[in-house]
Amino acid sequence: MYKLHNHCRACGYAKDTKPQGIKAEKTPEKLIPVFDLGLQPLANDFCKANDEHGGFAPLEVLFCPRCSLAQLSVVVDPDILYRNYKYVTSTSDMMKNHFQILYEDLTKQRGGKLGHVLEIGSNDGQFLKFLSDKPGVRMVAGIDPAENLCAIAREQGIKTICSKWNSRIGPNLPWAMDTIIARHVFCHIDDWQDFVDGLESASHKNTMVAIEIPYAGDLLNINAFDTIYHEHLSYPSIKSINKLLEFTKFMLVNVIHYKIHGGAIVLILRRRDSDIHPDVGIDNDAITEQDWRKFAFQSHKLITDLKNTVLSLHTEGKTICGFGASAKSTVWINACGFTKRQIKFICDCTTQKQYCSSPGSDIPIVDEGALLRELPSHTIIFAWNYVDEILQKQKLYRDKGGKFIIPVPAVRIV
Ligand code: TMP
Ligand code: ZN
Repeated sequence: MYKLHNHCRACGYAKDTKPQGIKAEKTPEKLIPVFDLGLQPLANDFCKANDEHGGFAPLEVLFCPRCSLAQLSVVVDPDILYRNYKYVTSTSDMMKNHFQILYEDLTKQRGGKLGHVLEIGSNDGQFLKFLSDKPGVRMVAGIDPAENLCAIAREQGIKTICSKWNSRIGPNLPWAMDTIIARHVFCHIDDWQDFVDGLESASHKNTMVAIEIPYAGDLLNINAFDTIYHEHLSYPSIKSINKLLEFTKFMLVNVIHYKIHGGAIVLILRRRDSDIHPDVGIDNDAITEQDWRKFAFQSHKLITDLKNTVLSLHTEGKTICGFGASAKSTVWINACGFTKRQIKFICDCTTQKQYCSSPGSDIPIVDEGALLRELPSHTIIFAWNYVDEILQKQKLYRDKGGKFIIPVPAVRIV
């Protein structure tokens, strides 16, 4: 179901470690364990009663002392992880705003025109649909391995190739690509060299590549340990990206920082044979092993805090539910060991998730309307990255006396 991962996928650290039992001339290189949640279910494995579950795998983060890339100690078989992928790009207002800002920033970065655009991991085609009629965009196409999502994208008229991204993809693409965008997919990929080779095969001298990833610096600052799950194999620093690109045709020319999903960066890559020069502002950040250790300590404290808060409310006879059956909710629920005794249900607007149970627990997922029908006294916002939007939309629940528990960056009740 999974394979062990023990060397750095950005800089190759610990790759050539000698087999055990053979005397090495120096201490063998080893990635350093910095955070461990033990055996965990797959975070998006929302199943109905008779569905086959994906199982459990260790959830542990290893740190590379050479390039500061943090990475999981295992790689779960992608065929198990993505065979029936229920993650659909959010249709929230926040996401729509992000699309607009991203379009404007990328257009500026590419001197006014995005031209032919390819999106890697195009999901249900929402972002490409948004881009398709914008000034400066000529044609859009997507590539995604999930058949159910490709079908949705095609129904909307978005040209979509149903395949994994790989190093030989270039000749299969419909046009020469001027802009290649990969939003929240890079950290799901095990073989980064193959990914970059794919970019090489699909690009020309003036292609701009924009890779959006969650930023490890933000994750560490706000203790967003719940964004660590099996799909996210890597937690990159800027330094690690520079290391990865060192011997490739690409270079990092800019980094744009956003607030979405608790903090994300867009890495702007250009070919070394282009006339573009790296922005003087970008620097190698200094994320250390110590930062990860501090984060681990704080995160375990946060888990204890939420557990104690929920247990004492439960003892007082209060009813508690969750809002947002995000992958983050799975991490929280299993880290705290909650069952439906403590959390009666989780509301979520995604129809594919409704009437499934939360992975690793027996907590049912229901529609958003259940919040007002059932009026639990307390509701944990697991989709805390949309907290403002949720508080605004669910005003009636609060007017009727309901309280929200926001778990990140510290547990608080509003
Ligand atoms: P995400 O953080 O991975 O996008 O997941 C957020 C989840 O929360 C997703 O399953 C949709 C759900 N959600 C609602 O049900 N109602 C809402 O108002 C918002 C913003 C999210
Ligand atoms: Zn490394």
